[in-house]
Amino acid sequence: MYNFRPKTLIIGQKIKYLPSCQSTNDVAAELIAADEAMEGLVVITDNQTAGRGQRGNQWEARAGQNLTISIILQPSFLQASEQFWLNIAVSLGISDWLETYVHDRLKIKWPNDLYIDERKIGGILIENTLQGYSIAWSVVGIGLNINQTQFSNPNATSLLNETPNDSEFVLEEALHLLLTSFEQRYLALRASRTNGAQRNVLKAAYLQRLFRYQEEHDFIADNERFRGIIVGVSETGLLAIQSGERLRYFGFKEVEFVLGNR
Ligand code: BTN
Repeated sequence: MYNFRPKTLIIGQKIKYLPSCQSTNDVAAELIAADEAMEGLVVITDNQTAGRGQRGNQWEARAGQNLTISIILQPSFLQASEQFWLNIAVSLGISDWLETYVHDRLKIKWPNDLYIDERKIGGILIENTLQGYSIAWSVVGIGLNINQTQFSNPNATSLLNETPNDSEFVLEEALHLLLTSFEQRYLALRASRTNGAQRNVLKAAYLQRLFRYQEEHDFIADNERFRGIIVGVSETGLLAIQSGERLRYFGFKEVEFVLGNR
């Protein structure tokens, strides 16, 4: 399986398929440590048995029904302080593809969760290795719910659940399209090193898709619930929320969105 060659320059030109593994991000990290990695290498499995999510959570995906992959990058053109630009390019690349099915229902929940309306369809776990002031290696772990229709988490959904398709998506085709979209945004980020205007384009596209951008909602920080409006994201990736007179900036794990009827 997965022995096609996508029409890309670098992403997915080499694919390591494992029928089963604990975590594709761990396999990718092992390849880097063993000096067996290269930029664009994709690790993919049908059955991830110990998938890792953000905030130390587990990532669960039923075997054979979803995409669980890791893409290895060498974004040495980015300074360590610019890591958030990778989050922007990666979440845009994936959402460009998902958006072709669900249009503007597709949202990026800061920093990089993928949502359709109010439900999560996918997650991204980026793990960087720094060398001096630059990023030497990046493992971009992507979990996308594609054909799974039932979830223990009521806040989760899949592409099949959210589209009028009668038949299941072909995972190999889905991967092909995903990698093509991913590469376009990654190459745009790479080009932005010498072309600042490209960065503005990426940031504008990110904000345009940002979940609850410029809407008034409830949030929780320091165990306190407050009402506010997301007004932007700082250069280093902090979420800016205007709450009354106060403009507050939050790092990852410092603020929680209040979802559904809570
Ligand atoms: C999140 O918490 O939203 C991020 C989930 C990331 C899951 C993917 S699945 C492929 C890769 N391997 C892992 O162990 N995690 C990521």
